[in-house]
Amino acid sequence: MDDLIVLNTTELLNQRLRQNDKKSSVALVPTMGALHDGHLELVKKAVSLAGVVVVSIFVNPIQFNKKEDFENYPRTLDNDISVLKKLGSNIVVFAPNYSEIYPDNYNQINLDLGHLGAVMEGKYRPGHFQGVVNVVKRLLDIVKPKFSVFGLKDYQQIAVIKFMVNYYNLNTEIITCNTYRENSGLALSSRNRKLSNKEKEDALVINETMILLQILSKRFNPIQASRIAQQFFNRSSLKLEYLCIIDPDTLEEIDDWVPGARSCIAAYCGEVRLIDNMELISLDRISEK
Ligand code: PAJ
Repeated sequence: MDDLIVLNTTELLNQRLRQNDKKSSVALVPTMGALHDGHLELVKKAVSLAGVVVVSIFVNPIQFNKKEDFENYPRTLDNDISVLKKLGSNIVVFAPNYSEIYPDNYNQINLDLGHLGAVMEGKYRPGHFQGVVNVVKRLLDIVKPKFSVFGLKDYQQIAVIKFMVNYYNLNTEIITCNTYRENSGLALSSRNRKLSNKEKEDALVINETMILLQILSKRFNPIQASRIAQQFFNRSSLKLEYLCIIDPDTLEEIDDWVPGARSCIAAYCGEVRLIDNMELISLDRISEK
């Protein structure tokens, strides 16, 4: 088995990709490192799709709202490399430094994301999605992958990236992977390592609330269901930032159920901000009626 290659510059990455057999396609998995099993599911998916998989590891400063969040973001490159090694021989790690992604002559793009960028994360983390759009567009321009793989854990991020890819007419297929959870139901996140054991237990209320919403969706409309779910949530020690029931495409809050309707939650568990989401109405349930 070849050794996993770690490249830090665009030039070296392009050289490596040019060596590729023309027939083997490239898949990109953008990450900020501190890899956990959720990330690895994305990489496995990419390995199943393409001949070469580029896993980018770049903690993107311009998507953080607070400088200290960026500075305190876990950086575990050695461990990231060793877990990726186990997943296949065609994985290339692209770990650029700041100036590779944002050279001096780089002009930040400021894409009007409309409603997609204004609600939920957009409302509570102003500027965050512009940071995401910039870095993902840069990565797509550098790697030019046939497939780009993202996790549904960040549902709104996927909607924003699809919009950007469409807007710039980029030639990549967005592949999505389900949210990977611990057996307890807690969605894996790089931030979970900051939770105490007690907080990890308290955080289960997020998953429980979304499962409750699935049950409530059978008897109540989204507004009633949301009210009951919030009451349930607020009995916990977490501080709710938002609980929205949305249309899966427009991300508008809905009054009536639609196929694919989702709940999205953001809340503080102690100092740690967690987000999660879940499909409430399966795409076939309504069409079967
Ligand atoms: P990061 O938080 O490192 O996540 C990288 C990818 O892993 C994203 O597509 C995210 O949705 C996915 N992911 C995280 N936790 C997951 C889980 N439990 N199950 C499934 N997928 C999961 O998202 C980012 O980085 C950045 O915003 C990025 C897109 C890399 C741009 O900087």
